Amino acid sequence: MKSLLIVYHSQSGTCARFAAAVAGGAAREENIAVTVRRAWDAGVSDLAAADGVVLIAAENSGALSGAMKDFLDRCFYPAIQRGLVLPYALVLSAGNDGRGAQRQADRILSGIPFTRATETQILRGEFRDEYAARSEEIGQAFAAGLAMGIF
Ligand SMILES: Cc1cc2nc3c(=O)[nH]c(=O)nc-3n(C[C@H](O)[C@H](O)[C@H](O)COP(=O)(O)O)c2cc1C
Repeated sequence: MKSLLIVYHSQSGTCARFAAAVAGGAAREENIAVTVRRAWDAGVSDLAAADGVVLIAAENSGALSGAMKDFLDRCFYPAIQRGLVLPYALVLSAGNDGRGAQRQADRILSGIPFTRATETQILRGEFRDEYAARSEEIGQAFAAGLAMGIF
């Protein structure tokens, strides 16, 4: 049994809906235990218990949202000390950009180092059903990759 951790931060609920969709997609895979945590509540012990992690957050003021940045900052040295090297997927919500958050997340994650398992998704504008469907696909594909030992 492999474990997939989903960590999200959401102010208005958009990223929370993406996180629920990612979790729903991942739950379609057998032999995968899915855990969903708010970034404020997540810590390095959650990462240590996981085989892969999906991070979902917004771009705020040209940067990764504060709670997701806080989560990664809190885990940075403890993850390195534990030698954690996890595959990750990144889903970003943004009004019209998202590249600042992507750059920042990539930089932090490559420093731990975590390995990018899938192409980062930047979902721009208001919540759409199409985005929920894409989030489900990401969750299912990542979970399938973990179950098959690809990542
Ligand atoms: C304080 C604040 C700052 C924002 N800054 C940006 C930004 O720099 N670039 C961008 O594309 N969108 C920006 N947005 C839009 C959010 O990324 C977008 O609304 C996102 O869907 C919010 O997701 P959430 O409410 O689930 O956290 C900002 C929103 C807020 C509230």
